[in-house]
Amino acid sequence: MPVSTMPEATMPTSATPHEPSSPTTPGSTTRSAAAARERTAVLESQIVQRPGDYRVLTGDRPTGALHLGHLLGTVANRVRLQDLGVEVFLIVADYQVITDRDDAGDLPATVREVLLDYLAAGLDPERSTVFTHSAVPALNQLLLPFLSLVTVAELERNPTVKAEAAAAAERGGRGMSGLLFTYPVHQAADILFCHGNLVPVGVDQLPHLEITRTVARRFNQRYAAAQPYFPEPDALIAPSTTILGADGRRMSKSRGNALELRASDDETVAYFKRARTDSDRAITYEPERRPEIANLLQIGAYFTGTTPQALADEVGSAGAGRLKAVVTEAVVEGLRPLRARRAELASAGPRHLAEALARGNARANAIADRTLDDVRDLMGMRY
Ligand code: TRP
Repeated sequence: MPVSTMPEATMPTSATPHEPSSPTTPGSTTRSAAAARERTAVLESQIVQRPGDYRVLTGDRPTGALHLGHLLGTVANRVRLQDLGVEVFLIVADYQVITDRDDAGDLPATVREVLLDYLAAGLDPERSTVFTHSAVPALNQLLLPFLSLVTVAELERNPTVKAEAAAAAERGGRGMSGLLFTYPVHQAADILFCHGNLVPVGVDQLPHLEITRTVARRFNQRYAAAQPYFPEPDALIAPSTTILGADGRRMSKSRGNALELRASDDETVAYFKRARTDSDRAITYEPERRPEIANLLQIGAYFTGTTPQALADEVGSAGAGRLKAVVTEAVVEGLRPLRARRAELASAGPRHLAEALARGNARANAIADRTLDDVRDLMGMRY
């Protein structure tokens, strides 16, 4: 039975335990990255033992096809969780695309590319639920009560909102939209509508998960004091560090430094040819001092099933040219099955993808309707 359709009393208690150190009072808001990592280790062992206690909610903005940074940072982790037996909900966050731009581009085409990437990477639409914001009205309506539970000052303090405001200014002095300002609360709705209790994120995203936890806690205090209704979800910190692009900055579509998963072998070869290295001859694994080399080592190690350190030892004095050759080969070979599946899915035509999304949307709607009903009851808005 889906978690959110259970009466609250039967919500698995092991799914929402919090360490004594976790904040329980409004105002103490941030769990440190170190605490989140520690917590992740505990969660990882619990997940293996009782995968059915967990429901993952995560997703992506459909701004383009997914790239290597997505795969190593989060997509592979989602597939792993799915295959461990955890229920995975994936939101294609189309409303988030218009937080910072007037033109969302060709959304149907972009959503299709993202779906192709998900399925090619191993997400199984029979087991996991893929859906879009815009198709699930009840999820979006949760934003209204949730907005009443946070203050403007709290949103202004959120480092992600701050960074987004700065980025918006950089893009040409354009002001931040109200939707961008409130998007951490929208994400709370994304996560809580399905009673998600596990959110795989990078450490940089901890602050907005903290807003979700705050919203859940305050909702429970205000409207469900006798029996908490929403879980306070945990962050599951991704195993790998941030993947850098060819220019040495964080890999991102908007920076034009990304290797798309759908790229051809030739494009992959060309990509790594232009990837930045440094002038030290021998290859060593020193993430702080030599981030570009460490990044290549990390990518190569991921696809060859070794560690960055071992790969550095192997390449050693052969230098950056040899390292690039090893990494290129590893990526071309490592992505071959994904790319083959992707091509197969793409050539099978849009029906299969459309059906997978329609199923996911129907399921998300059933759950969201139920949650919104419960929320109306709890808030005394049943007339
Ligand atoms: N903001 C995320 C991204 O840019 C996508 C997203 C939307 C999300 N809602 C979420 C992630 C809720 C985690 C939880 O990729």
